Amino acid sequence: MRIGICGLGTVGSGAFNLLRDNGAEITRRIGRDISIAQVGCRRGHPDCDLSSADVTRDIFEVAENPDVDIVLELIGGTDDAKRLVLQAIAAGKHVVTANKALIAEHGDEIFAAAAKSGVQVRYEAAIAGGIPIVKAVREGLAANRIGWLAGIINGTSNYILTEMSKPGSNAAFAAVLKDAQDLGYAEADPTFDVEGIDAAHKLTILSSVAFGVPLRFDAIYTEGISEITTQDIEYARELGYAIRHLGITSSDGDAVELRVHPCLVAMDHMLAQVNGVMNAVMVSGDAAGPTLYYGAGAGSGPTASAVIADVIDIVRSKGVDTLANLGFTALDDRRVVDITEITTSAYLRLMVADEPGVMARISTILSQHKISIEALIQKNAQGDDAHVVIITNDVLEKDLNAAMEELASLKETKDEIARIRVAAF
Ligand SMILES: NC(=O)c1ccc[n+]([C@@H]2O[C@H](COP(=O)([O-])OP(=O)(O)OC[C@H]3O[C@@H](n4cnc5c(N)ncnc54)[C@H](OP(=O)(O)O)[C@@H]3O)[C@@H](O)[C@H]2O)c1
Repeated sequence: MRIGICGLGTVGSGAFNLLRDNGAEITRRIGRDISIAQVGCRRGHPDCDLSSADVTRDIFEVAENPDVDIVLELIGGTDDAKRLVLQAIAAGKHVVTANKALIAEHGDEIFAAAAKSGVQVRYEAAIAGGIPIVKAVREGLAANRIGWLAGIINGTSNYILTEMSKPGSNAAFAAVLKDAQDLGYAEADPTFDVEGIDAAHKLTILSSVAFGVPLRFDAIYTEGISEITTQDIEYARELGYAIRHLGITSSDGDAVELRVHPCLVAMDHMLAQVNGVMNAVMVSGDAAGPTLYYGAGAGSGPTASAVIADVIDIVRSKGVDTLANLGFTALDDRRVVDITEITTSAYLRLMVADEPGVMARISTILSQHKISIEALIQKNAQGDDAHVVIITNDVLEKDLNAAMEELASLKETKDEIARIRVAAF
């Protein structure tokens, strides 16, 4: 099998060098050579020795090259990348990509084209970098009905939350984000990472791999970490929780929950121990029970490891896949549950005037909506104002929204009410 690499950035150069460095070991594993037939890049990369490579400045030439069996789409974005992938598929090439946006937003169309052409599209590197999570779910857990899957799948957000959580840290979100940018952990435009969009792309794909449902990026509930304060982290810690940004998907067989948002995670839960830029995904299967996968979610080496593993899988299967691209032979179009229909316990932080009777009014409103209080702390905030922090029992989001609206309209309520859902697994 001969490959064509399109894009020689962080991931592309990693894949190029991994094949050079580990080629002999890979051949020893699979009994065949994987050679690079062509590289499509607009410029070279200082770490890549292209002296003996066939290099083209036009990536679309790679898609049509008769010497190429597998096209590696490592350019990113969704316009040229989609055109490149569809062109390669039409030319009868298998495709390996690391592009979560492309698969989450256009995967159904791409997979349909691949099925028509009888080629494979693989995307392990698109989710959680070096962690073989797609393989674990598609293959290792293939005998299970998956109940739920939850993970820390954006290293930038996890790094920021971990830094904000360091004991004594009073660093606000914006300051930590700036540090993360200086260290190269966050992009100059961090929106995709900190507003949850990158995690939403990844969770969309994971949900389809877990439940065999079409890709529903249009229906995912997405919330990022930009509103989390160090005070929320402190209060959560006092109540026995860490704050983590999670992607959560579950299904009862009828409908699918699909949501990405910050969560309170019990301090002794394994996901609360995942720090810095690391990623972790927990999957619960009815036979295997909960399993946890942990590792580097990004970076040249980890991502290239997943890209080349996909290439190896295609070579080993001799290009004949017994599974459709999401790991199911037929998809089941389950309803995606609206966020107002989910039930969770929640952390609420209110800033109120510290006056007699306020607490009574707050608990009356909550009880009128059949919401009970599991834990409560009150702290002086500033001047005559106090923070009231509440953990509710399990409550329907719709009921909590109604209660929050009433709480917000109390004359003693000074500020927007913060709400963070509590993870319940
Ligand atoms: N970096 C990671 O850790 C990581 C992890 C998981 C997944 N991914 C995914 O992997 C993909 C690549 O990411 P990356 O970090 O490697 O990005 P990157 O460092 O920006 O590399 C992308 C490369 O593609 C080239 N390129 C873009 N459009 C092109 C075109 N039309 N023709 C020729 N070359 C083109 C760029 O060339 P120029 O330099 O000339 O612009 C650049 O060298 C993305 O989909 C990303 O989401 C990355």
